[in-house]
Amino acid sequence: MSRVAVLKGGRSLERQVSLNSGARVEESLRRLGHEVIEVDVGHDLVDRLSADRPDVAFVVLHGRDGEDGTVQELLEVLDIPYTGSRVSACIRASDKVLAKHAMHDAGIPTPDFFAFSETAFRSLGAAQALPAISSRLRFPIVVKPASQGSALGIKFARAESDVPTALIAAFSYDKKVLLERYVAGRELAVSILEQDGQPRALPIVEAVPEEESFYDFESRYEIGRTRFICPAELDPAVGLQVQNLALDAYRLLGCSVFARVDLMLDTETSEPFVLEVNPIPGLTETSLLPQAADAAGIGFDDLISRIVAAAS
Ligand SMILES: Nc1ncnc2c1ncn2[C@@H]1O[C@H](COP(=O)(O)OP(=O)(O)O)[C@@H](O)[C@H]1O
Ligand SMILES: [Mg+2]
Repeated sequence: MSRVAVLKGGRSLERQVSLNSGARVEESLRRLGHEVIEVDVGHDLVDRLSADRPDVAFVVLHGRDGEDGTVQELLEVLDIPYTGSRVSACIRASDKVLAKHAMHDAGIPTPDFFAFSETAFRSLGAAQALPAISSRLRFPIVVKPASQGSALGIKFARAESDVPTALIAAFSYDKKVLLERYVAGRELAVSILEQDGQPRALPIVEAVPEEESFYDFESRYEIGRTRFICPAELDPAVGLQVQNLALDAYRLLGCSVFARVDLMLDTETSEPFVLEVNPIPGLTETSLLPQAADAAGIGFDDLISRIVAAAS
């Protein structure tokens, strides 16, 4: 039995999700017999960790600072073993521009995209290039900040006239923004969990929106607006292809122990495309990785105990 510090909360926009995940992880750790140190991550993080010297830090931060390698780097410096992916994988996975370039170069299908920094618009006249971009990607296109989660700042542009507003929204979240080809299709998530040191894909979860509301996109994630089906009903060959693709993306970005890969399955062509890899997916009551683990016969406490055991 160990002393486990649960690092949760933080300043990111996904603070609330993280607090919910954290509370659930803490209950589970206590059931497993561990001593829990609750840490709402803030200015005193280094002081607290230095004073408490936990055996393991369980990182359940989402978004900025927690999932992007910042906290992991501090844990490396303090020489405290921690859960999940190492610094470099967190950096690569949490930056959608970096991750998509890496996937594209490695031949892992991801929707075509262009990415811009604020500087390109402010100082280099990138706005003049928008018509060219729009014609290369075809409408509708998806505009999203490079780093964020929970669909924050993501807008669909149905025509060129929608692009400036969508860009402004995305730039309010990040200095880097992606314009991505829209994939009309089914939304799938593949959770990965290492078993005996080997990454394994868990059963696929499909997210089915209850009401198809193209405009009001972010609200789809409110409780009740989306139904989750696990295991997703897919042709077995397609399911296997999707799981292997998720494993390829996980390995490419160098993730460790667990992660969740979000994909779109093109309705017309049945081709899967990887949208992103989440190195610290949600662990709340309604989160997808726990659902997928459950479908594979791995209960929540079992999941948490495996993640803690693999901390290094
Ligand atoms: N290119 C795309 N085509 C269709 N839907 C998309 C596309 N990109 C994002 N989405 C929708 O937005 C959701 C969130 O996008 P994602 O890239 O996973 O960012 P995040 O989850 O980090 O906010 C997806 O689950 C999907 O429903
Ligand atoms: Mg996602």
